[in-house]
Amino acid sequence: MVYVTRKMHFSAAHRLFNPTFSHEKNDKIFDKCNNPMGHGHNYTMEVTVKGIPDPETGYVIDLKVLRDLIEDHIIEHVDHKHLNHDVSFLKGIIPTAENLAICFWSILESKITGGILHSIKLFESDANFVEYFGEPVSIPVYNTDATTVSEVAS
Ligand code: NI
Repeated sequence: MVYVTRKMHFSAAHRLFNPTFSHEKNDKIFDKCNNPMGHGHNYTMEVTVKGIPDPETGYVIDLKVLRDLIEDHIIEHVDHKHLNHDVSFLKGIIPTAENLAICFWSILESKITGGILHSIKLFESDANFVEYFGEPVSIPVYNTDATTVSEVAS
């Protein structure tokens, strides 16, 4: 088995908070990441596929094809966006690196043929990154409309 990785970059803003928590609890848990107007990261994402090289091409996957899939289905939607507001497939999801990796996996897994997706590694900074291998996991989706109401009311 050979593992083949494409590295991509994007820049985005996000705010970490849970609309079911009080302001005090959000501040305690998310600290500066709960800054109401958000903050930004330069993300690096490594998408790895695995397989046996095709005997006629020597490729596990054509890396141009993999690059285009990631660009069209992920990067195009998140680069220079606010992840809490601008991205339809992230609506209501707390946009931690963990949750982003899970969401990106579910999209790419349906686009990369042959079931060869192996992992998504997402760097939020040089020091902090997550890695996801596709084990089933569910993410809560919060009612962001209700959030807006409670935010305004408080
Ligand atoms: Ni952050």
